[in-house]
Amino acid sequence: MTITDELQATMEQMVQRGKGILAADESQPTIAKRFASIGVEASAENCRAYRTLLFTAPGIESYISGVIEFEDTLAQSAGDGTPLPAVLARRGIVPGIKVDKGKGPLALSPGDLITYGLDGLAERLREHKGQGARFAKWREVYSIGEQNPSMLGISANAEMLARYAAVCQEQGIVPIVEPEVLIDGNHSMERCAEVTEAVHKEIFHALHRHHVVLEHMILKPNMVLPGKDYPLRASAAEIAAATLRVFRRTVPAAVPSINFLSGGLSPEEATANLNAMNAGFPGMPWLLSFSYGRALQEPVLQVWQGKPENVAAAQLALLKRARLNGAAQRGEYLAAMESAN
Ligand code: 13P
Repeated sequence: MTITDELQATMEQMVQRGKGILAADESQPTIAKRFASIGVEASAENCRAYRTLLFTAPGIESYISGVIEFEDTLAQSAGDGTPLPAVLARRGIVPGIKVDKGKGPLALSPGDLITYGLDGLAERLREHKGQGARFAKWREVYSIGEQNPSMLGISANAEMLARYAAVCQEQGIVPIVEPEVLIDGNHSMERCAEVTEAVHKEIFHALHRHHVVLEHMILKPNMVLPGKDYPLRASAAEIAAATLRVFRRTVPAAVPSINFLSGGLSPEEATANLNAMNAGFPGMPWLLSFSYGRALQEPVLQVWQGKPENVAAAQLALLKRARLNGAAQRGEYLAAMESAN
């Protein structure tokens, strides 16, 4: 198989109507924070048990086409000794890997952030491919302030995403390009729209400069939302309209799929917003779907509580959220579905 055939085959398996991606790629400090909320220690064994719970949940393959994993998880095995990536692949779910090394300040650019991890990326991708990964994820983070993100912040982050995506494609790995404009702050929805538009314009210029094939990538963006501390809330219909206005202006139709991050929205909000886009705006050139972390996992953690006797019920909680988001991808979700099991 050529690299192009390989990328194409991965895209076709990942981009399907009624399906989306489960982001289960929390780094060690992040999973420790999530586990702390239910009083569970983030030991290697607890992490392995939790990820096994997620990846073996009966029925999720009907709604989940890919799972993003953290490095450690790729090397772990389920109780029966099957490597976790193989557990997914066996069910027709594509295993993926978060390859960025986290963010920090962008030097001499106060308030801007930059993500690390390009050094040695090709070698790491080759190793992860050997472990079963077929796609990767890299996240750049933009916080909104009066002066931020600056022009420099926007261009430096775009360059990182494009260089990462090019290395992935060269290795036959589908890149998920994730620019996250954070929900934190008291900015308006209009300000989020303005920043998201500038961020996307720069990213697609950079992807073009670096010869990234748009047909073989997935975009994982934020929705356009008012800041968490902004006094006025927006409806799902308003969020859908504002988000798609920005995307029509900036995301080429050649990109097959846009899989949103949940970014601090509640599970119900994340589902309702996605549904409002698909139900209210049919005929968009891209599949509009999900790549949720917290919005898929919060209810699971609440039910699990770190106890083996709760595993089956926690798996049902995951199946429910996956099913409702699958319905939202088709524009067929109704709030009334929340009260059914
Ligand atoms: P959330 O959906 O919790 O924002 O996580 C998605 C993700 O992969 C962040 O990088």
